Amino acid sequence: MDKYIIDGGEKLYGKIEIQSAKNTVLPLLAASVLTDEPVKIRGVPMINDVENMLRILTEVGCKIRRQKDCALIDSSGAASHEIPTRLTKELRSSVFMLGSVLTRFRRAKISYPGGCDIGLRPIDLHLSGLKRLGVKIVEKDGYIHCEADRLVGAEILLDFPSVGATENIILAAVKAEGITVIRNAAKEPEIVDLQRFLNVMGAKVRGAGGGTVVIEGVKRLHGLEYTPIGDRIEAGTHLIAAASCGGEIETNGVPSENIAALLHKLRENGCKIYTKNDRIILISDGRLKSVNLVETMPFPGFPTDLQAQYSALCCTAKGATLVVENLFETRYRYAAELKRMGADITIRGRTAFIQGVEKLHGACVTASDLRGGAALVVAALKAEGQSTVMDLSHVDRGYADFEGKLRRLGAKIRRIRV
Ligand code: EPZ
Repeated sequence: MDKYIIDGGEKLYGKIEIQSAKNTVLPLLAASVLTDEPVKIRGVPMINDVENMLRILTEVGCKIRRQKDCALIDSSGAASHEIPTRLTKELRSSVFMLGSVLTRFRRAKISYPGGCDIGLRPIDLHLSGLKRLGVKIVEKDGYIHCEADRLVGAEILLDFPSVGATENIILAAVKAEGITVIRNAAKEPEIVDLQRFLNVMGAKVRGAGGGTVVIEGVKRLHGLEYTPIGDRIEAGTHLIAAASCGGEIETNGVPSENIAALLHKLRENGCKIYTKNDRIILISDGRLKSVNLVETMPFPGFPTDLQAQYSALCCTAKGATLVVENLFETRYRYAAELKRMGADITIRGRTAFIQGVEKLHGACVTASDLRGGAALVVAALKAEGQSTVMDLSHVDRGYADFEGKLRRLGAKIRRIRV
């Protein structure tokens, strides 16, 4: 497993082009099964989660071509309603395929995606929503068998504004008979992008981003070419790294409103931030003061996917920070590794109490999940001395050319292939 060698202490300067959002590209790839006409998605990042989703599409019978950073999907030959088990284990978000495979074939079979490194991650809201659309679901031997002679529009209320459940239900409703209304829907920008994508295909989806999504079923969807929105979590990760290390960076490709909650905190920490359209400029002297409290919330609250990286920043901010992780049960596995670097973190359940220290020192640390791995990189860039970050398979799931982008900002980071 590859590792990073990072010599900390460098300030970061320069501009970064942000990749297309992983958490948009994945549902868009699932949606490409909804038409038998060619689909071209531009700016598709070379990351493992996307490669696994492309493998799933291939196994259901789609023809995939990669042209530089574009993905071309021809689903005319799609024939299998079974989503491959080994890939479902690899990629939890394969569960989005349920909605689009059901729309295409009126049946679907998927193994239970199960939990992962950050929590149980049940899919009860996905399944109850699909049932409301007329899907019969039998869970047997670890598989979920879905059948629907007809998909009929319905009123659905989500107990929790689940991103995946909102997306899955939209994908199952776009060609259902009649109107579907999803209340307490997730408001993430990725949902708005999925709505835009589907409407270009000829669907009738409205209200995404506002909490109530209305889908009027249509008969046919056609192919398209599309460029997804930028990855707000990638942008946020680099902005946090620059805030912590000090310097001046500019991200391009993510509008500030998509990470407003983070920018608000970074300003409170003492950073200067200027924004214009899809450009965000951050200036920091690297000597931050802590904010008292950060609570992760569904959008537009502070994103759970930036909690780990921001907690790493808090380790050397002046003062104490209370971090509350409201979305996932075990999203602090990185904390023990930060303590090896000298961080003063106390974890109690979903809460982390972080007492800022003068400095972190380099250490050999191991990533255990995607955003936790990014947090270890943020800490190592700030720490005094050399760090080794082991098991890059996690960051490789969500960050394309992570070390290249950081190196171009002046970071002393190199990948050792082992
Ligand atoms: C999406 O996961 C993202 N993944 C996650 O990003 C992100 O952390 C999460 O949304 C929250 O923003 C993709 O988009 C591919 P949820 P998802 O359903 O859809 C509970 C990353 O690092 N829940 O909004 O799985 C669940 O247990 C990843 O890029 C149910 O109880 O998230 C969790 O506590 C990590 N029942 C909460 O809702 C359900 O049926 C949020 O989950 C579904 C979810």
